[in-house]
Amino acid sequence: MKALMISKDSLLHAEIAAQGSARLPAVQLVASRQGLRDATDRILPEPPDLVIFDASGVEPGEWGMVERLARLYPEARFMLLAREAHQDLLIRAMRTGIREVLQLPLVHRAFHEAIDRIEIESGVTRMRDGKVFAFISCKGGSGATFIAANFGYALGALAEKKVLLIDLHGQFGDATLYVSDQKPTMTLSDICAQIGRMDGAFLESCLVHVTPNFGVLAGADDPAHVVDMKPEHMDTILRVARKHYDYVLLDMGRQIDALSLRALDSADAIYPVLQLALPDIRDGRRLLDIFRSLGYPAERTRLIVNRYEKGGKLRLSDLEHALGAEVMHTMPNDYASATDSVNQGIPVLQLSRGSAVARSLADLVELVTARRVTETKGLFDRLFGRSDAGQKPERITS
Ligand SMILES: Nc1ncnc2c1ncn2[C@@H]1O[C@H](COP(=O)(O)OP(=O)(O)OP(=O)(O)O)[C@@H](O)[C@H]1O
Ligand SMILES: [Mg+2]
Repeated sequence: MKALMISKDSLLHAEIAAQGSARLPAVQLVASRQGLRDATDRILPEPPDLVIFDASGVEPGEWGMVERLARLYPEARFMLLAREAHQDLLIRAMRTGIREVLQLPLVHRAFHEAIDRIEIESGVTRMRDGKVFAFISCKGGSGATFIAANFGYALGALAEKKVLLIDLHGQFGDATLYVSDQKPTMTLSDICAQIGRMDGAFLESCLVHVTPNFGVLAGADDPAHVVDMKPEHMDTILRVARKHYDYVLLDMGRQIDALSLRALDSADAIYPVLQLALPDIRDGRRLLDIFRSLGYPAERTRLIVNRYEKGGKLRLSDLEHALGAEVMHTMPNDYASATDSVNQGIPVLQLSRGSAVARSLADLVELVTARRVTETKGLFDRLFGRSDAGQKPERITS
């Protein structure tokens, strides 16, 4: 969004320029004017999307120039900044159609919330009602992180959704490394330590961006800080995240503690990941028992069998019988593609687009987003050059 700033205060100008450029998409201060007269005398050749106007020191008689400015830039949104928001100032602002009035000194959170509202109203972005999906491995190494991270990328790339992945591993979180070579500057525990700053822009600025619409919030890197992360922090993060992302994926790690429990409580669906082997089935059963004792409805739990190979001694139906739950999806065993992807930190869909595991991720995207095959067939066919797009994942029934 391109903004015109009207203020004599160079420090305020610098502060707003810094806050605006940290946003995604950025609010760019494309021009600045010293005062109202300067702004009305020197009109911008290309009208701004936003006019940020510092009303400090403006005489009541000058207000007419604001109305003039509003007529000069009829499409622009106006944000008024004032040291003291007198009643008559507010009334005049309302009459001019200015809805955003912020008090100085600038409270960054209030500024970003106002920009959020302006972006939503002007259609730059929209308030979302994101779904939260938790991925949890029944047994260590089942593939929950691999699937969560690569599914996040696939949702962004194939379904054009805005996706956030939060790494909840208490220690040794590795979700970022699976899909990126960037080093995170902020982690979940850093966000919890600054929870008062939490809003959409702050959250977005803390992510490792794999693509513009897929970001990862890295796990706490120091186990000592994990104790400072409180369940109510999780509530705040998820409340904000739901508004700004279509899908919020949680890589749960294996520990269930107060924080992860709060996250599971508010998840729309839980995806336990397991392999078709007795130890996984045993641990899966324990996990599902915990979910039942917590009162989670059965339909919220959606099993994913990872590294699935046809023709083994155990069948999917054996697993379903032992767990008393249906398998929602199977991911094929694709050692070469998975290992290449993990070793290089490149999403498997990007690195080995035609691989079995990439196709299976695409199937999962279809299943979860409930996109009709007729809608997606073209897209999926183009991407994978296949004729069987949209078919259900392979399953064995007894
Ligand atoms: N479908 C697959 N085919 C082949 N290899 C896979 C597949 N899925 C995952 N892997 C491999 O399994 C390994 C472990 O996966 P991952 O780290 O995702 O497990 P996890 O469940 O998150 O483990 P942890 O309990 O330690 O968090 C990865 O190195 C990955 O390469
Ligand atoms: Mg993991």
